[in-house]
Amino acid sequence: MILVEAVDRIGTVCQISVAHPLAEAPRALEFFAGIGLARLGLEAAGFRVVWSNDYQPDKQAMYAGNFGESAGHKFVLGDVRRVSGQDLPGGAALAWASSPCIDLSLAGARAGLRGTESSTFWEYIRVLEELGHDRPPVAVLENVVGLATSHGGEDLAMAIKAFNGLGYSVDVLAIDARRFVPQSRPRLFLVGAQTPPPESRQDRSELRPDWLWRVFGDPTLRTHRARLPAPPTPLMSGLSLCVEAMPLSDGRWWDGNQTRCLVESLSPVQRRRVAQLRRASGVSYRTAYRRTRQGVAVWEVRPDDIAGCLRTARGGFVQAGRRAVGQQSPASAVDDAARVRNPDGR
Ligand SMILES: C[S@@+](CC[C@H](N)C(=O)[O-])C[C@H]1O[C@@H](n2cnc3c(N)ncnc32)[C@H](O)[C@@H]1O
Repeated sequence: MILVEAVDRIGTVCQISVAHPLAEAPRALEFFAGIGLARLGLEAAGFRVVWSNDYQPDKQAMYAGNFGESAGHKFVLGDVRRVSGQDLPGGAALAWASSPCIDLSLAGARAGLRGTESSTFWEYIRVLEELGHDRPPVAVLENVVGLATSHGGEDLAMAIKAFNGLGYSVDVLAIDARRFVPQSRPRLFLVGAQTPPPESRQDRSELRPDWLWRVFGDPTLRTHRARLPAPPTPLMSGLSLCVEAMPLSDGRWWDGNQTRCLVESLSPVQRRRVAQLRRASGVSYRTAYRRTRQGVAVWEVRPDDIAGCLRTARGGFVQAGRRAVGQQSPASAVDDAARVRNPDGR
């Protein structure tokens, strides 16, 4: 859903009309498609995704489960290194890439855009270059905010220069998904436009925080700042409304032992947080994350009713647990704290 909003705004910013019926809708190419979350947003914003690529068969299967087969769309399963510009359908208005973040993530070794995984960004640039005159007028890169600081900002500058070399001026935005959905997931967007939209007169936008500002002042980079509407305020709640109801007999609930281990690893502050929730009436939901503190694995519970996003080397949600904490729920009988659903769904 974040993408719906983000793309909608970016679509507006880039002055691409998105009001056409689907058959005439502007066409989009989807690099690093995964399970198709970018496509969800792009299509909701009026684009028609005509080509997608990813190299993981399990993701392709999920993608197919999400979208099925559709005429006029091709999913190419394979390494982006083997994709050639000539293989792509022509006439695309937009190219979108959600390229791998592993080497840019704050939790990783931070090899940056030279890293084994994140260097696939350069394949995106290569394919755009090979498209020549058929290069889409707008090209987007989505990645983690760690791209902005990787190698002291050099990687971000290199990425902008690469777009510049292909004729794109670049806007740079940082958007946290929690402005739209109850999950904190900060992401960086580079929006390359061959014809930049009218400049913003805003000195500052919440979407261009101070730490991004230096790219706009760098005379070696061709950048612009599109006029943007004020973004929605970040959410502090809403996770509870998305939680899937699950009977206590479901095997994904942790047993008493696992739950006890979690509770015992909580710091006094964290324990008080959970205890306070349990004293309140009704059922509350919180996400918990396993972290290493001074060499010891501990769980930490978020104070708010939104999900977080771990900065792990592989990104994502890998060790998040969802807690349902309720004084009067049958769950409170499970053991002394809460019922806890296994994050891996096991
Ligand atoms: C950050 S994820 C993008 C997730 C996507 N937005 C989704 O909805 O699932 C990066 C994706 O790049 C894919 N990928 C990584 N290296 C690749 C390569 N060499 N060729 C093609 N796809 C690759 C991964 O399989 C992963 O799905």
